[in-house]
Amino acid sequence: MRLIVEKNVDPELNLLTYLRKKLGLTGTKLGCGEGGCGSCTVMISKYNSFQKKIIHIAVNACLAPLCSLHRTAVTTVEGIGSTTTRLHPVQERIAKAHGSQCGFCTPGIVMSVYTLLRNNLEPTMEEIEDTLQGNLCRCTGYRAILEGFSTFAKLSPRLFEPSEFKPLDPTQEPIFPPELLLLHESQQQTLFFKGEHVTWIQPTTLKELLTLKSKYPEAKLVVGNTEVGIEMKMKNMLYPVILAPAHIPQLNMSQRTETGILFGAACTLTYIGTFLKQAVDELPSYRTEVFQAVLEQLRWFAGQQIRNVAAIGGNIMTASPISDLNPVFMASGCLLTLASEGSTRVVRMDGGFFTGYRKTVLKPQEILLSIEIPYTKKGEYFSAFKQAQRREDDIAIVNCGMRAAFKEGTDVVEELGLSYGGMGPTTLSAKKTSEQLLGKKWNKELLQEACLLLVDELTLSPSAPGGMVQFRRILSLSFFFKFYLSVLQKLGQDFNSDFQVESIPPEYLSATELFQKDPPSAVQLFQQVPPGQSPTDVVGHPLAHLSSIKQATGEAIYCDDLPCFESELYLALVTSTEAHAKISSINASEALKVAGVTCFLTAKDVPGTNKTGQIITDETVFAEGEVTCVGHVIGAIVADSAAHAQKAAKAVKVTYEKLKPIITIQDAITHESFHDSPRKLENGNIDLGFAQADDIVEGEMHIGGQEHFYLETQCTVAIPRGEDGEMELFVSTQNPSQIQSLVAKALGVPANRIVCRVKRLGGGFGGKETRSSLLSTAVAVAAHRTKRPVRCALNRDEDMLVSGGRHPFLGRYKVGFQKNGKIVAVDLKLYCNAGDSLDLSSAVMTRALFHMDNAYKIPNIRAISYICKTNLPSNTAFRGFGAPQAMMLAECWMNDVVAKCGLPSEQVQKLNLYQEGDITYTNQKLEEVNIRKCWDECLESSSYHSRRKAVDEFNRQHRWKKRGLAIIPTKFGISFNAAFLNQAGALVLIYTDGSVLLTHGGTEMGQGLHTKMVQVASKALGIPISKIHISETSTNTVPNTSPTAASVSSDLNGMAIHDACQILLRRLEPFKLANPKGTWEQWISAAYMDRVSLSAAGFYKIPDLNYDPEKNEGRAFNYYSYGVACSEVEIDCLTGDHKNLRTDIVMDVGLSLNPAVDIGQVEGGFMQGLGYFAMEELRYSPEGVLYTRGPGMYKIPSASDIPTQFNVSLLRESPNRKAIYSSKAVGEPPLFLAASIFFAIKDAIVAARAASRITGLFCLNSPATPDRIRNACIDDLTEMCPPAEPGTFIPWNVEV
Ligand SMILES: Cc1cc2nc3c(=O)[nH]c(=O)nc-3n(C[C@H](O)[C@H](O)[C@H](O)COP(=O)(O)OP(=O)(O)OC[C@H]3O[C@@H](n4cnc5c(N)ncnc54)[C@H](O)[C@@H]3O)c2cc1C
Ligand code: FES
Ligand code: FES
Repeated sequence: MRLIVEKNVDPELNLLTYLRKKLGLTGTKLGCGEGGCGSCTVMISKYNSFQKKIIHIAVNACLAPLCSLHRTAVTTVEGIGSTTTRLHPVQERIAKAHGSQCGFCTPGIVMSVYTLLRNNLEPTMEEIEDTLQGNLCRCTGYRAILEGFSTFAKLSPRLFEPSEFKPLDPTQEPIFPPELLLLHESQQQTLFFKGEHVTWIQPTTLKELLTLKSKYPEAKLVVGNTEVGIEMKMKNMLYPVILAPAHIPQLNMSQRTETGILFGAACTLTYIGTFLKQAVDELPSYRTEVFQAVLEQLRWFAGQQIRNVAAIGGNIMTASPISDLNPVFMASGCLLTLASEGSTRVVRMDGGFFTGYRKTVLKPQEILLSIEIPYTKKGEYFSAFKQAQRREDDIAIVNCGMRAAFKEGTDVVEELGLSYGGMGPTTLSAKKTSEQLLGKKWNKELLQEACLLLVDELTLSPSAPGGMVQFRRILSLSFFFKFYLSVLQKLGQDFNSDFQVESIPPEYLSATELFQKDPPSAVQLFQQVPPGQSPTDVVGHPLAHLSSIKQATGEAIYCDDLPCFESELYLALVTSTEAHAKISSINASEALKVAGVTCFLTAKDVPGTNKTGQIITDETVFAEGEVTCVGHVIGAIVADSAAHAQKAAKAVKVTYEKLKPIITIQDAITHESFHDSPRKLENGNIDLGFAQADDIVEGEMHIGGQEHFYLETQCTVAIPRGEDGEMELFVSTQNPSQIQSLVAKALGVPANRIVCRVKRLGGGFGGKETRSSLLSTAVAVAAHRTKRPVRCALNRDEDMLVSGGRHPFLGRYKVGFQKNGKIVAVDLKLYCNAGDSLDLSSAVMTRALFHMDNAYKIPNIRAISYICKTNLPSNTAFRGFGAPQAMMLAECWMNDVVAKCGLPSEQVQKLNLYQEGDITYTNQKLEEVNIRKCWDECLESSSYHSRRKAVDEFNRQHRWKKRGLAIIPTKFGISFNAAFLNQAGALVLIYTDGSVLLTHGGTEMGQGLHTKMVQVASKALGIPISKIHISETSTNTVPNTSPTAASVSSDLNGMAIHDACQILLRRLEPFKLANPKGTWEQWISAAYMDRVSLSAAGFYKIPDLNYDPEKNEGRAFNYYSYGVACSEVEIDCLTGDHKNLRTDIVMDVGLSLNPAVDIGQVEGGFMQGLGYFAMEELRYSPEGVLYTRGPGMYKIPSASDIPTQFNVSLLRESPNRKAIYSSKAVGEPPLFLAASIFFAIKDAIVAARAASRITGLFCLNSPATPDRIRNACIDDLTEMCPPAEPGTFIPWNVEV
């Protein structure tokens, strides 16, 4: 524990930067800087003089101004336990339960749960889940994390033997520092902090605050900083004066009055939630309708870290059109007290309160003092609804508050308040609709009239910001329909004896149910090692990731955690704001005036060649003359700090002469803009195939792109070594050899002068295979030029903007089949959006072409592929590498074939599955085909057939909720398509004390590669894993490595390690023979004394990879991995929401090297696929600007998105002769299994459409987002909101 006194705090400094850069506490991570990922979570403890107690809250350090932390205690992950002192049980359990893969999210998750336990020693499982609402993990799939923490839960399901863990002992926790407690007894004083641009004033009385507000009318009032912080960071806003009212009693009061509950404007949302909950528990239900609605909105409002600091006043006064609380406050007619120096006034929050986008009736000198939320009376009903892209921690697409009050003892409407967010530039009141319905009876006619009026009143331009216009209009009606039903239901319950309330058909009732979380459950099945296996042989054991404990304590070092080097500089990129343009001028004069700036670099500063690229050199280090995408790197500012570099980078002025950009696949087709000439792959006789077909389907599907969203952004530190052009680089990359090579070219030196080192990555997923060089070459040029160490870790928004992602695909198909569903001919056109450079796109397309059968035998096939050249940032490798898109297309046409045949889906799919000995359309004979085994096991373990019946029955009984079920196979080819990459090296060094330093060509990015490689070396050498260490991957130990990609790293590096170990064993053999009872150390010592080399380099290449594209024959893959998943979902037909009820996976991983790591890959891959197919949507403007540049707008799955029942089983008895110790690759193959969620959703939509008597094929593009789901569930409401005619307007976003 440390006491910190800072006299001069810069108001722009946040806690995270302070912890990491000033105190060197790098356990707390920077994942996004915008409150959306939770990797910066710390615990703040303070004495709350209003609640008169010490409170502990989890907060996002990235948004917490350091100024706001006067008299608080901050606990970081380092403060609760370490490997050198004592592990905290929270750290121990997440690590041992396999809940940490890359580990970048882990400290934040640990701190969230630690804080929960400080407040609540025996939480429920639901409380644990809620605690994690604001923490994202991209690797694990969350199941293991939740299961590890379930051991703290009341009623723990006991998946672990609790005796395995250290008990939680609250007496071991640090106490709240007594000196801080004592300080609270002394008088609070006004605080002033003055920084370079901003002054922070924290007054202690209301009078003082109002005087200050009158003196500085433009000043911002900051409580949680969750809006202002974002505006300053992301939107470049500067507020010279900040007033912090958090300590003023009147703004923190809460009180029940005669008419409602009064809250001071600085009350936090967490506090409001607790206070309202108590009122709901104590008061009669009819009085608390509004409170219940506020609580329902708070359930889905951000994550806990935000709710713990964000104030009610901040939500109101930001006046955001998508505020979750304002529609409720407006519809309920809350009273707001406004104060200024010398006066107060009370206004009702109604349609007049918001005067424009982010504007209110408040005068500049006024502040919001308090808000009164009213009680409701008998016969008055209130509901609130919200639909977002993701259920938890997401801003609304549309939300609303709705109130209806009835003439006493009747169903005649007396008052009606309908307020909407997301339907215009402010929170809107549908006043006209409400007025027209007064005096009417609450029945079907009213519903009909209300919908017509709402359609008329809540118009949205087809170009409206935010897009999804048709969906938003439909939602406004759907919400009213839900409200209508719920009021009808309540009227029925309250008054049915007084008058006849219109009855609700029983199948309609589910439309009114609020979303319920069910307790999660999971089963993981894997094969135990055989009974005779030696106890020292750990291959096949579920060992925890070897770094997981260090990751949980924050001791694991990532690239940006390296301490600052002497005289280190920071780099910030200057990137293009145009998609396609000639650069007219670049003016850095203003930027160079910014304090601390050293230089500005452009193409002319590159000492070697500025031309760069992966397979061909079609890229630049810095743009030359022309930019070809928004985000194209034009130059770089180098300065003494990140803040100065980033500020200066924004001051560089670039002028452009615009050229016409090509953004979408469709544009590229129209303009014939392709990187390569089209490629054709053909087998069989397509014409004959179609001639044999009983029927033919044709269609197309667009499959969107995906952002990698590794939690650790791209990062490089370059250190010039001062002689012979040597430079050392620390890079977060999957491909150190390529960084070495491209940096050498950019600097004009031979590769032997450049060393690239990689300790670990905070996730990669393909995004750090080639795109890391974009940053590394620029940083290396800067280090070369300044002769000083230079660092850059991209901000999340920059990373998402510049680095590209998974390729969007368009697939067109024509498929011939027989009556029984047997496929006889498939004719395909595949288009991918590659962006502005080729990067790996041709290899991605090759893999797509090799996986367009998914797991089905297609006798006659023809495919033509096109790599579209567009003005988007270059798309690149991403787990699956083009295969998921092609397999998705296969399942799409298979789905159509099934629908056309009218046969059970699983029957038609199975009929077409490959069998042993089949020959693929690339003429490779399939051996050890496990797909049917996986299929049958999955059908069985998921009880598919009985659940199919249950789903059908559910759908008969429910009109507005529908369930769907789907089973999907996958087959994934293992090896790089470029045969030369299928090689690996390893270096095994044995030291005289017997310890072994292992190095191989693969990088550790969370996938557990190093853990598996240590297991392999341990088995090969016959020594315990404790004697083996991997320190890093570096180009000066193992040269010319292939990227850690294509799922083959264990296969390749494992074999290379095995080879090196065999060399060493052969050398040790004589010493073992001479001393058979000796120890390892004795043999090593004897060998050393006998001058035997104790180091060996191993090498491996996959044999017999000889695919010949000209002849379309030979072996393209070493072997195939197989898997099958069955998923069930439930959709809300009115809102497009969906819930993942259950998934069962059977995955073939051969004889698993490490079942815990493999199950982690299966679950993590599945959840990443779930994001890909059902949630994550990259949105671009028609001009090619990426809107979705952070976790605020781009939604990856959170813990609540995992299937409620999530069962994973590794196929037993399936040794694989082709890889190390009979194992199989596992990184990429499971991702596609998440298509089972997509097709379960489609199955549910089919049921919804059938309820509206709509049958026949329909196109559902991927991902299946709420708007796509809702728009496909055609009903009377959708018919009222037809889409605008394409071509008659410019849409806000385009499908690329
Ligand atoms: C990750 C994340 C998730 C979010 N999720 C949601 C969500 O789900 N739903 C939602 O509605 N919002 C969401 N928000 C927005 C934000 O959290 C809320 O609007 C929050 O209530 C703002 O409160 P604050 O105290 O942090 O505001 P601050 O940033 O401190 O202040 C916001 C604004 O309010 C003004 N202000 C504050 N108090 C007063 C006062 N008493 N008188 C006059 N002006 C005042 C300030 O001057 C400033 O302009 C999210 C934000 C983040 C970063
Ligand atoms: S870094 Fe703070 S929430 Fe992401
Ligand atoms: S382990 Fe959670 S992001 Fe990698």
